[in-house]
Amino acid sequence: MKSESLAEAVNKRRTFAIISHPDAGKTTITEQLLLFGGVVRKAGTVKAKKSGSFAKSDWMEIEKKRGISVTSSVMQFDYAGKRVNILDTPGHEDFSEDTYRTLMAVDAAVMVIDSAKGIEPQTKKLFQVCKMRGIPIFTFINKLDRDGREPLDLVTELEEVLGIAAYPMNWPIGMGKGLKGIYDLFNHRVELYRREDQAESLIALNDQGEISDAEPLAEESIYQQVLDEVRLLHDAGNQFDAAKIAQGKLTPVFFGSALTNFGVKTFLDAFLQFAPAPAAHTLADGQKIEPVATDFSGFIFKIQANMNPNHRDRIAFVRICSGEFKRGMDVTLTRNLKKLRLSNSTQFMAETRETLETAVAGDIIGLYDTGNFQIGDTIFSGKNKIQFAKLPQFTPEIFVKVTAKNVMKQKSFHKGIAQLVQEGAVQLYQSYSTGEYILGAVGQLQFEVFQFRMLNEYHSEVIMTPMGKKIARWIEPEQLDEKMSSSRNLLVKDRQGNPLFLFENAFSERWFKDKYPQVKLTAKL
Ligand code: G4P
Repeated sequence: MKSESLAEAVNKRRTFAIISHPDAGKTTITEQLLLFGGVVRKAGTVKAKKSGSFAKSDWMEIEKKRGISVTSSVMQFDYAGKRVNILDTPGHEDFSEDTYRTLMAVDAAVMVIDSAKGIEPQTKKLFQVCKMRGIPIFTFINKLDRDGREPLDLVTELEEVLGIAAYPMNWPIGMGKGLKGIYDLFNHRVELYRREDQAESLIALNDQGEISDAEPLAEESIYQQVLDEVRLLHDAGNQFDAAKIAQGKLTPVFFGSALTNFGVKTFLDAFLQFAPAPAAHTLADGQKIEPVATDFSGFIFKIQANMNPNHRDRIAFVRICSGEFKRGMDVTLTRNLKKLRLSNSTQFMAETRETLETAVAGDIIGLYDTGNFQIGDTIFSGKNKIQFAKLPQFTPEIFVKVTAKNVMKQKSFHKGIAQLVQEGAVQLYQSYSTGEYILGAVGQLQFEVFQFRMLNEYHSEVIMTPMGKKIARWIEPEQLDEKMSSSRNLLVKDRQGNPLFLFENAFSERWFKDKYPQVKLTAKL
C-alpha cells in the first residue's frame, strides 16, 4: 500500500455479498471464486463436503449437522488488480436479520439462482433489501449441468417476480446432459463446455455473431435455436447499460455451473469490471461521507462470539466507510464517546486469520472485542463526530422462556446469555412480575442454535419453554402502569431496561388500545 494513494486503494476494492435461497449453490460458487483468487481450497467458510473435511472458519458445529449456513463471515482476496471482499450470508430465512445487516455493509450483491427452481422465497426477500439500498445486483443462474427451466422463462420470471430489468450477458447452449456451452453476448464469443476434463474453450464470433461453420457445434440444432433466441433478445430485450447496472435498475444475468466451474470466471471478470468501488455512506443526519475522506470511520454490522472455541474470543466486524485503518490507531466510539485503541485487529485473508496492519474504506476488519461494541456502533478517528444511519432491526415474533437446567450453573448460564444476546440473533427480555428470562427471535432456528451453542460453548444446558407468537410493543416509561399487564399482554423489559408488552395476538392489542387510548405503543425502539 505504500506507494498507493488512498483513492487508488479504495478504487481497487470490490465488496459484495452473495445472496440465494439455500441450496442454490452459494457455497459452491464462493469456493470457485476463492480458487480464482488463489486462496487455498479450504479457506473461508467454504465447506469441502465431499472430502468430509471442514474449513477452519466453518466453526459452527450446527452447520455441519443441518447442512445450512447459519453464520456470515468475510473472505478477502486479490484478483486482476482488485481487492475483493466477499461477505458470506446465511441463506436460511430464520437468519434473515443477520443477512440484512450484512447487506448494509456491501456495495453490490450477487444473486445465485438454481436454474431448475427459479426465484425462491428467500431470493425474493433478500433481493428486496438490495433493491431498497439501491446497490447493483448481479445474477448468476446456476446448475446448467443439470436439466433446468428454459432460459427465457427464467429471465422473464426474474423481471416479473422481482421487478428488475434483466440483461443476459450470456445464454446457455443446451443444459443438463445436452449442455454444449454458453453463447457469450457480452464478450462476443462462445464458451464450450467440456465435461470430460472440465476444461472450457473459447471461440470468437464473427461479425454476424456466429461461430465458424467449421466448428462441430455449428451443425447442432441447439446452436441454431440459440442463435434465434439471441436475435430475439437483441431485438426485443433490454440493452446493456452500465449506468443502470450501477444504480441497481438493471441486473446482468450470467448462466453457468458452479460445481463444474463453468462460466464462473467469465462471471467474475465481468462482475469486477462493473461492480462499483466503495461509494459515499449516509450518516444519521442525512449527510454523506466519502470513502476518501481523511478521517477513518466505520460501523459494526456483526458480532460473533467464540469463532475459535479454544480461545473464547469475540470479534466485532467493522465495515470501513472512510479513510484508512492502521493497527494501533485511536478511535472514538460514537455511542458513548469512549476512546479506544485498535491494536487487536484481524483480517480474513487466506487460510488463517492474521493480524491486520492496514485497511481502507471498503474493507471489512475484525476487532477482538472485550465488550465495548454493540451492533450498529460507529467508530471514527479525528475530531468530527460521525454517526452512521441506523441498521435495520427486526421485532421478534416468537418467544420462549429460558432457564438453566442445572441451578448450580447460573454463572455460565448468565455469561452465555449475555454474550450470545450481544450478537443480536436473539433478544433478551425479563418479566416484570416474575423476573423470568424470555428470549425473542424472528425464526425458530435461532432458538435451536442458541440452545446448541449454550451447551457447546458455555457448557450450560438450557430449558426452553415455548410461548408461541407474540406481538412486541414498546411503551413510554412515563405512561406505564404495571397494572396494565395481564396474561394477554405480558409486561417485560428489554436488555436496556425499556418496558414493553408481549401481546397474545392482534385482538388483545386492539383491546388494550381501546382501554388505554392515550398510551402510545411502538413496534420498534
Ligand atoms: P448453498 O450454499 O446455496 O446452500 O448451496 P451449496 O453450494 O451448498 O450447494 C447445494 C447443493 O447444490 C450441493 O449439493 C452442491 O454440490 C450442489 N450444486 C451447487 N452448484 C451446482 C452446480 O452447478 N451443478 C450441480 N449439479 N450441483 C450444484 P449437495 O448434494 O447438497 O452437497 P454435496 O454433497 O454435493 O456437496
